[in-house]
Amino acid sequence: TVFPNQEEASIAVANRIAALIKNKQEKGESAVLGLATGATPVKVYDELIRLHKEEGLSFKNVITFNLDEYYPMQPDAEQSYVYFMNRVLFNHVDIDRNNIHIPDGTLPEEQIHDYCLQYEKKISDLGGLDLQILGIGRTGHIGFNEPGSAPNSGTRLVTLDDLTRRDASRNFGGKENVPTKAITMGVGTIFKAREIILMAWNGTKAQIVKKAVEGAISAEVPATYLQLSDNVEFILDKDAASGL
Ligand code: GLP
Repeated sequence: TVFPNQEEASIAVANRIAALIKNKQEKGESAVLGLATGATPVKVYDELIRLHKEEGLSFKNVITFNLDEYYPMQPDAEQSYVYFMNRVLFNHVDIDRNNIHIPDGTLPEEQIHDYCLQYEKKISDLGGLDLQILGIGRTGHIGFNEPGSAPNSGTRLVTLDDLTRRDASRNFGGKENVPTKAITMGVGTIFKAREIILMAWNGTKAQIVKKAVEGAISAEVPATYLQLSDNVEFILDKDAASGL
């Protein structure tokens, strides 16, 4: 679906999330959301905060799982995704802190494998993700599933691509400060969501969006795996869609 601009597209995505939350509320159930970081979803979160403050949308029944976190990373570091999510969403809504899940970047490396299995189990014990939102990195990564990721991959520790670290360098004051690793939900984890929305804005994403939508399905561009699912919608602005 192509929108004229990021603002309108973000409002449409926020409305879809709000409808899901309310629908679950009416049934006395929880909404289990897969959330993303990066610049892409920020206006969606802005609109959700507005809906909370001005229209009484409650997050009391919302359970969230974030896609990824840098490794190693302290949660109170400004570059952490914990810090980011608090700043752009969680600090401004009535979500129960116990319902927030973000991969833990502080664990000793030998504990990560078990931790990742637990992360997956928590999601499946709750009945799976109702909706996963995604951005897309210029390498074609979703979450931090970089080129080479398998379609059935689970939550795990990964090594970041050089281009991804370069793109992140602004937030870290230089590429040398960007962690070389991250913990990410796998492609397989993402695929289990009942609904997936991938968002992309502006011309810098046009080339990778074209590859993701029209390119051959390949581990070289993990976002191409999304072509294999019937539950995926790409929501783009005009510029991100300009190569299609
Ligand atoms: C980051 C995140 C991804 C995100 C992507 C795009 O590395 N791990 O989840 O989709 O890069 O970032 P942005 O939205 O800032 O373009």
